[in-house]
Amino acid sequence: MESKCFCSFTFIITIYITGVSSQRLIPSANPLAVGGNVTLTLNPQMNIVAGSWLLDGNILVFWYPDNVIVTDSFKGRMSFNSSTRQISLYSVRVSDSGLYVLQGVTPSVKAELELSVQEPITNVSLTVSKTNLVEFKDSVTFTCTAHGTPLVFSWYNGSSEVKAANVQLINNGSGLIISNVTRYDSGPFICSVANGISNGKSRSISLDVSYGPSNLIMAVLPNTMEHVSGSNITLSCSSESKPTALFHWSYNDISLNITSPTFQLTNATQNQTGAYACIAQNTVTLRYATVTRTISIIDPISATPLVPFGEPPIFNNSFSLTCVIMGPVDSVHWIKDGVDLFPDSRLSLSNQNKTLTFNHLTLSDDGKYQCVASNTVSNATSTAYYLIVNYGPWSTRISGPVRAEVGSNVTLNCSASSQPASQYSWFFQGSKVAEGSVYHADSLLLNSSGEYTCLAHNNITGINSSATWNLTVVVGISSVVVTPNTLVPLASKDMQLFCNVTGVFESIQWLKDNQPLNTTATKSIYMNNTIVDFHPLQITDDGLYQCVATDIFRPHVSQAYHLIVNYGPVDLTITADIKIVSVLTCNAKSQPPSVYHWLFNNTVINEEAMLILPVMSPWGNYTCVAINPLTNDTLSTSYVFSEHNAVAPLQTNVLLTALCALVLPVLMMMKPF
Ligand SMILES: *[C@@H]1O[C@H](CO)[C@@H](O)[C@H](O)[C@H]1NC(C)=O
Ligand SMILES: *[C@@H]1O[C@H](CO)[C@@H](O)[C@H](O)[C@H]1NC(C)=O
Ligand SMILES: *[C@@H]1O[C@H](CO)[C@@H](O)[C@H](O)[C@H]1NC(C)=O
Ligand SMILES: *[C@@H]1O[C@H](CO)[C@@H](O)[C@H](O)[C@H]1NC(C)=O
Ligand SMILES: *[C@@H]1O[C@H](CO)[C@@H](O)[C@H](O)[C@H]1NC(C)=O
Ligand SMILES: *[C@@H]1O[C@H](CO)[C@@H](O)[C@H](O)[C@H]1NC(C)=O
Ligand SMILES: *[C@@H]1O[C@H](CO)[C@@H](O)[C@H](O)[C@H]1NC(C)=O
Ligand SMILES: *[C@@H]1O[C@H](CO)[C@@H](O)[C@H](O)[C@H]1NC(C)=O
Ligand SMILES: *[C@@H]1O[C@H](CO)[C@@H](O)[C@H](O)[C@H]1NC(C)=O
Ligand SMILES: *[C@@H]1O[C@H](CO)[C@@H](O)[C@H](O)[C@H]1NC(C)=O
Ligand SMILES: *[C@@H]1O[C@H](CO)[C@@H](O)[C@H](O)[C@H]1NC(C)=O
Ligand SMILES: *[C@@H]1O[C@H](CO)[C@@H](O)[C@H](O)[C@H]1NC(C)=O
Repeated sequence: MESKCFCSFTFIITIYITGVSSQRLIPSANPLAVGGNVTLTLNPQMNIVAGSWLLDGNILVFWYPDNVIVTDSFKGRMSFNSSTRQISLYSVRVSDSGLYVLQGVTPSVKAELELSVQEPITNVSLTVSKTNLVEFKDSVTFTCTAHGTPLVFSWYNGSSEVKAANVQLINNGSGLIISNVTRYDSGPFICSVANGISNGKSRSISLDVSYGPSNLIMAVLPNTMEHVSGSNITLSCSSESKPTALFHWSYNDISLNITSPTFQLTNATQNQTGAYACIAQNTVTLRYATVTRTISIIDPISATPLVPFGEPPIFNNSFSLTCVIMGPVDSVHWIKDGVDLFPDSRLSLSNQNKTLTFNHLTLSDDGKYQCVASNTVSNATSTAYYLIVNYGPWSTRISGPVRAEVGSNVTLNCSASSQPASQYSWFFQGSKVAEGSVYHADSLLLNSSGEYTCLAHNNITGINSSATWNLTVVVGISSVVVTPNTLVPLASKDMQLFCNVTGVFESIQWLKDNQPLNTTATKSIYMNNTIVDFHPLQITDDGLYQCVATDIFRPHVSQAYHLIVNYGPVDLTITADIKIVSVLTCNAKSQPPSVYHWLFNNTVINEEAMLILPVMSPWGNYTCVAINPLTNDTLSTSYVFSEHNAVAPLQTNVLLTALCALVLPVLMMMKPF
């Protein structure tokens, strides 16, 4: 028996273990609402000869062949189908919930089912500890209640389920605590309750979480660090705050009576520079936030250069220009003729570059100077200063003639390099004779010779400079005359021409027939060229003689002296023209021309050069005598008139000419002139 029971127990366990997956209890409904009916069926169907139904281990029905025993506890609310082994429960109660087991003994089988009988959910209600909260300070508790079994709670913030770090569920989920609420915890919060057969939602509750001010920002328009005076600067403050923050403003920690989030510095002035603070206040959270910005308002600059009084710019002196600047300055620099100037050995900058100093002015410093001042909001270029370096007088000089003729006018010019122009005065023999750069000396006298002094004075530099000029007044040439030493120039005699000059001359030249005089062996020029010596005079010296005397001013040319050399008679010839009557013509060379007469038998028969011999004139010697009327020198020759030359007059003529040519030189040699 014991072994058999053991064996059957073992068998049952085996069946149970092996039958878990194959035999199941199928409810007609599960879970099901209170008051409902349910039938539990074994699936797949099996003919269990002996077995029982149990609820939570308590037997409900027990059967074996031909007998069924049902407990009292379900009397009237349960039925057992002997053929199908189903049980049906009617008007079920919550307490009918539990583990239902069908235990077969023959055959040994076990199937079970957890049946849930539930009450539908109603009256879901949500309450909250308070709704006006302060962020990061307050906590809040939600409580959810409902009718029904079982009750499963879940919570929603808006449409999403609440699951946050600062959230805690209590009382099986029916309570929700949000500790240290944030602005994101405003809801709407909803409690949702559910079981297997129904569900329900609570009303929604929103929280009013006050927060801030936070993220306080001050915006400045225009958005720059520095503003030029006269700008309109708008300051606006914003923050995240609930309720909206109240703002007020301070300037350098002094409260301004401004409560708007925005205010404007209209036409800002430089003395409004400072620290502007915006203070945001939340009257609920009682929290404050402050943001500060430093606003710089800077005047624009204006600049003018100034020259120090009483110190004109003078060459080699030092000199300074100062730039007068209105307004705040960051930097100053200088330009000359539009080009940047940089300090060097001669040029220095001081007084934050406002003063430009020339250590030693030079002429190249002349130019247009300007200073340029800048700050962060503006630039200003000064008015121009035109620097002209004063200097001199330098290189004072006189120009004019060195010598002048008595009675003439001269002009002396004085000049000097000077800025400004010098004032000039003239001195002669210790006395001031004129003012101005030009001195006119009229109608000069001999005692106007001497040293003339020009004094140049620069009334800015105060410098004087002088120059002297030696003027020599001389008597010039007033006449030039060529004078011969004789009124009768004779050939073969010595003769002299004098150049008589009235006045002072420097040189003399002689001209013959407008050509420079050619000096040959027979003439020479003596004594500063004043004398031409003809040694002796020759016929070829005939010509127009002029003397050119040159003084310091110009050449003076004399009247021409016409030299005519007197000579002769020479070359005496008789020309015979023998026809019916014979004509004898006598001719000699001579200056002045000779006068002639004819002699026959020592008797003058004719006083002319031409002798006409009528027919039948006597034969014999006809003699022609030529006489120079100036010198009375004479020359004679004879013509032999015979039947021979009457017959052949041409031959005779030729013969006579030949004869004369032979005789004349002999005569000239024998007879002195
Ligand atoms: C439950 O069964 C009883 C008896 O068969 C019947 O009178 C009743 O209407 C049923 N109830 C439901 C909800 O089906
Ligand atoms: C609330 O939260 C803030 C910020 O998260 C924290 O500084 C503060 O300590 C918290 N207060 C409490 C009571 O938890
Ligand atoms: C500043 O505002 C005043 C008044 O609103 C206006 O007259 C002026 O032109 C503005 N100045 C500038 C620079 O915008
Ligand atoms: C502040 O300004 C308001 C109007 O803007 C004025 O009524 C009040 O007197 C001012 N308060 C002070 C202290 O200036
Ligand atoms: C701004 O200030 C300047 C000088 O201070 C003044 O001339 C001008 O009228 C002012 N303009 C306004 C709009 O206040
Ligand atoms: C600021 O400067 C303006 C002129 O630029 C002047 O009228 C005003 O009085 C000054 N204000 C103060 C507080 O010095
Ligand atoms: C002065 O001038 C020099 C040369 O122009 C320049 O380098 C320097 O920055 C200037 N300084 C100021 C204060 O303006
Ligand atoms: C000042 O002048 C410089 C060069 O001339 C220029 O670049 C700059 O914009 C000017 N600044 C202002 C504020 O006018
Ligand atoms: C010299 O100057 C005087 C007066 O200026 C003038 O009358 C005269 O004609 C001048 N003489 C000569 C030669 O120029
Ligand atoms: C200096 O000389 C100039 C002319 O050279 C004159 O115009 C000016 O008045 C003088 N100045 C003085 C102070 O004498
Ligand atoms: C002018 O003449 C004098 C005497 O003849 C002489 O001493 C002086 O050096 C001369 N001056 C000039 C500038 O030639
Ligand atoms: C010219 O000079 C010579 C020599 O000096 C002199 O004998 C003669 O008298 C002078 N004649 C006149 C007209 O001056």
